[in-house]
Amino acid sequence: MNRRTAVQLLSSGSSVVAMGGLPSLLSSCGHEAFGPAPTAVPLIESPFERPLPVLPVHAGGPIQLVAQASSLDIRKGASSTSMSYGGSIYGPTIVVRRGEGVDAQLTNQIGADTNIHWHGLLVPAEMDGHPMHVAGSGASLRYTYALNQRACHAWYHSHVHGETGRQISMGLAGNVVVRDAEEDALRLPSGNDEFVLVLQDKRLDVSGHQRYAPSMMEVMNGYMGEVVTVNGIAGPIVTTSQGRKRLRIVNASTARVYNLGTSDGRPLTCIGTDQGLLAMAEDVQSILLAPGERVDVLLDLRNAVGGEQIYLETRTFDGVTTQGKHAARILRFDVTTNKGDMSDLPTSLALLPTLDPNTATRTRTFDISNTHGGGHGGHGGHEGGHTINGIVYAMTRSDVQAAVGGIEIWEFDNTAGAEIHPMHVHGATMRVLSRTGGRGILTAPERGIKDTVLCMPGERVRAFVSFGPYAGMFLLHCHLVEHSDDGMMLNLELR
Ligand code: C2O
Ligand code: CU
Ligand code: CU
Repeated sequence: MNRRTAVQLLSSGSSVVAMGGLPSLLSSCGHEAFGPAPTAVPLIESPFERPLPVLPVHAGGPIQLVAQASSLDIRKGASSTSMSYGGSIYGPTIVVRRGEGVDAQLTNQIGADTNIHWHGLLVPAEMDGHPMHVAGSGASLRYTYALNQRACHAWYHSHVHGETGRQISMGLAGNVVVRDAEEDALRLPSGNDEFVLVLQDKRLDVSGHQRYAPSMMEVMNGYMGEVVTVNGIAGPIVTTSQGRKRLRIVNASTARVYNLGTSDGRPLTCIGTDQGLLAMAEDVQSILLAPGERVDVLLDLRNAVGGEQIYLETRTFDGVTTQGKHAARILRFDVTTNKGDMSDLPTSLALLPTLDPNTATRTRTFDISNTHGGGHGGHGGHEGGHTINGIVYAMTRSDVQAAVGGIEIWEFDNTAGAEIHPMHVHGATMRVLSRTGGRGILTAPERGIKDTVLCMPGERVRAFVSFGPYAGMFLLHCHLVEHSDDGMMLNLELR
């Protein structure tokens, strides 16, 4: 039985039938590589026993990024092989001011092709980490570019076609923090009160070694681990003063969506998203964060008392059958008796360009439902693979041509789909205009400037896309990385 038949059978029931509800049907397809039944991978909470690792910071000047094998105690006392840029955990956080630039030399010591994409930064096409630009084993690549964009939390990661999922999940990822005067003026929590947090789920074997080996079913549902790590480890603790904390969170998981909230129900104040500050802060009880997305939140511990323990947790959520069924606490804050940043947040945060859809020169629709054929081409050698508009990625084919500096409306149509697709564009930024079907609403972070937008099953998301200043070959893809590795990616040619 191929995927199409499975989808037809599944959707012939009442409304959208849970994939997980018919394991026997799917496992009887006779394809041994289908692996375990497609139920949501549970979350296993880890004991909170170790301080949160602080990723090294690099501010100013050239930086060497040596992609290498390393080892990391993801679970306490159990060392696992991993990969990193120059250390044991991920790469350094590159801090840069608007108007300055980045000069990074990647040296490849992983024994396979690798490269770096600067997710969220507007850089020239040759610097963007397009999969046609890779460093072979032992080789180097230099990335130099100036940055002229607003303050934001971007990140960098490998983008080798077919291997991106493995390399990111092994640790080839890092953060970029862009600062500017508009943000400085807000006097947001800084220094020890500002945290860069990389969320990534890991599948660990009995001895604590991480594994990345998606089955065909996991290429469809996404490869998920039971253990959620923050900055590389399970069960981290932050010991911190009473006061405001700024949490800058990136979801570096290949497939898992988090629904972030606090263990005592105190709201998170959402102040920023992928491309920087929102116009106004918004208190929320929980925030969905899909792979590739970033969120900037304030955690208000001004009224916490010494000795109190407050957790950041991920909660259950609806909208897709293959995840969101489990909750877990992922990071603990141990509050001391010291007083930290007790100041208030200004009500308005930033000026965002006004949205005038009439300035868009055209509208394009991208069918991301993936209801026809394939679903596992890149891995199983079947026909197909994950598609956008029915097309599987080809490295050098120009798929979408658009104007440098232009504006279009893009519609991501997952109306008939059963999988989640966080859609991401390189060389451009997005403003989400509407979501119909599924959740039917925009979330707080979606009122800011985005580069990645989550499309749940049944949803149609319209976004205003502003192309950046550089010509050349960029990408449009799903950031559920098993999907993009399987072909759910198009070349976006700006000219
Ligand atoms: Cu973070 Cu092309 O991706
Ligand atoms: Cu990107
Ligand atoms: Cu996808």
